[in-house]
Amino acid sequence: PKLIVETRAGEEREIDGAAGLSVMEVIREAGIDEILALCGGCCSCATCHVHVDPAFVALLPPLGQDEDDLLDAASDRDSTSRLSCQIEFGPALDGLRVRVGADD
Ligand code: FES
Repeated sequence: PKLIVETRAGEEREIDGAAGLSVMEVIREAGIDEILALCGGCCSCATCHVHVDPAFVALLPPLGQDEDDLLDAASDRDSTSRLSCQIEFGPALDGLRVRVGADD
């Protein structure tokens, strides 16, 4: 499935991502290093913050309590904010578009 990532510089990258990986892993495997993912995907760092295209928000698993708390640390949090390590990628999300969160 396709994942479209907008980097902080506003550059758009289309990635052919593997199903079963998290969105964070798909982005990092594509060589986009703006997603630091310091905790390695265990929902404890918030450096994998992305803004999700509003059209896809309803398709995602619900926001977890830890995820919600961590996102409060992001200066640019909004209603489309998610931690990309908490989103499993797959065919149901084909065409998903995300924008990398602020570097803070
Ligand atoms: Fe640390 Fe997602 S990689 S919270």
